[in-house]
Amino acid sequence: MQSSPPGLPQRLRAPEPGWTTRADAVVIGSGIAGLTAALRIRAEDPALSVLVVTKDVLSAGSTQWAQGGIAAALGPGDTPEQHLHDTLVAGAGACDVEAVRALVTEGPAAVHELIALGTRFDHHEGELSLTREGGHLRDRIAHAGGDATGAEIQRALIAAVERDPAIEVIQHALAVDLLLAADGGVAGVTLHVLGEGQRDGVGAVHCRAVVLASGGLGQVFSQSTNPSVSTGDGMALAMRAGATLRDLEFVQFHPTVMYLGPDSQGQQPLISEAVRGEGAFLVDALPEEGGTRFMQGEHQLADLAPRDVVAKAITRRMIETGEPHMWLDARHLGAAFWERRFPTILAVCREHGVDPTTELIPVAPAQHYASGGVATDLHGRSDVPGLYATGEVACSGVHGANRLASNSLLEGLVFSRRIAAVLPGELRPWAEPVPDGRPAGLTAWDRRRALQEVMTSRVGVLRTADGMQEALDRLAALGGAGDEAPGVDGWETTNLLSLSTALAAAALLREETRGSHWREDFPDRDDLRWAGHVDSRLVAGELRQDFVAAPSTDPSALTVENR
Ligand code: SIN
Repeated sequence: MQSSPPGLPQRLRAPEPGWTTRADAVVIGSGIAGLTAALRIRAEDPALSVLVVTKDVLSAGSTQWAQGGIAAALGPGDTPEQHLHDTLVAGAGACDVEAVRALVTEGPAAVHELIALGTRFDHHEGELSLTREGGHLRDRIAHAGGDATGAEIQRALIAAVERDPAIEVIQHALAVDLLLAADGGVAGVTLHVLGEGQRDGVGAVHCRAVVLASGGLGQVFSQSTNPSVSTGDGMALAMRAGATLRDLEFVQFHPTVMYLGPDSQGQQPLISEAVRGEGAFLVDALPEEGGTRFMQGEHQLADLAPRDVVAKAITRRMIETGEPHMWLDARHLGAAFWERRFPTILAVCREHGVDPTTELIPVAPAQHYASGGVATDLHGRSDVPGLYATGEVACSGVHGANRLASNSLLEGLVFSRRIAAVLPGELRPWAEPVPDGRPAGLTAWDRRRALQEVMTSRVGVLRTADGMQEALDRLAALGGAGDEAPGVDGWETTNLLSLSTALAAAALLREETRGSHWREDFPDRDDLRWAGHVDSRLVAGELRQDFVAAPSTDPSALTVENR
């Protein structure tokens, strides 16, 4: 157990609400996880009122940006068992086998349901077109619009939500904090809404359940593939309400993010793994400078090794060569193939002055995905009564220490369906929120850049105890002295600071290298000491972190019965 580093901004406290409303269930977030949850809750019990709140417009979250696709055992010769195997291998012993089993066995039907809802996946000769990405031993990634899978799924889900008048939507609404009943369970949620007529400023929604589907925390780092809305609001809000956050240290860095120069900040262009799946490969210098294919010899799957392996190999080569990036060679795919298969990536590369049909693409790892999050059970329940979580905000156990490519859209889809299957039958009675006596502890929004820089340089791809301790000291100095009447920027920065502190402390605690958590000072995986999870929670205002041992879930460590 490790207790609170100093200066953690533990509390937000919204001013008295200026307006109130109510709904049986509030869904926070509007990507694949949120919209699926809303639609499925209504399908399970049409008498329930559902309110979807989203921080920007409905389509602004990470789903919209997903390129590669959605993984499921849909092809001839593939099976959920093989998908289970590949997911467990990528997860480096830290998955929950039952959660992975639910994911892979329910995945194919869930994808077919998306198709029935109107999602237009790519086909070839009448069959669903399936590709491969890092860590998959079969072609099992369904895609749409070539490389615009997320946008197509988002379009179909928004259309379905708009067809149901009983799903209310409030856009431009940041979820600030949960309102809790006397028993510690959910009684509502406070929102900070920008410009929605009568519902402007801080308001309260009374409800009987909250489903968090608010995405990840990419903005903790200076460079991320995540959109600007990914400020970890759902995780921070859940932690303040007493929920357990699990495995925050497992942050995935995508190996091939277009390198735009040392000063480029915020969301960076992703070059999908599917480009390597179609034959592109990494080299450490331009051909005329003698560049070599350094992934050969690193791993039996070479350029299609699991994501953490490729990100580490790239980082190592960058350190060895002193270069700020490596190169991706996809010229041989040819212009016609590029235009048909990767139109979005082609346009983005050209926008940034690189023609990938004739030139190599500069790439470097950047933050991509939070494998940890709000700890949930097999039906998305957190340990706060009435609070559920699904998608990137959650830690359902399917990703372990390193998410397998294209399992994220699937997780949101499958676990939102699982939440909807139980939520109507276990709705809490309406409850009065207890008065919020917590002290406010806000952070000034202009400290965001400083926290991103320290997290990137000290808690990024490569970690050491000294670096992380320095990060914690510098984060502690950024706390407090916030604005008494904050805007959305202030709430978000406070959330980012809380999560940065908990993440850095969890990463410092785990003294081993596993999956996406890479300790230079502890370079080996250590199952004797570290098979299990790092849980973070606030107890009486202090950050408490506990290591919870759990058996390793490598396929080789499982018996036939529990595989
Ligand atoms: C990619 O297209 O490379 C990203 C897919 C994912 O993160 O699962």
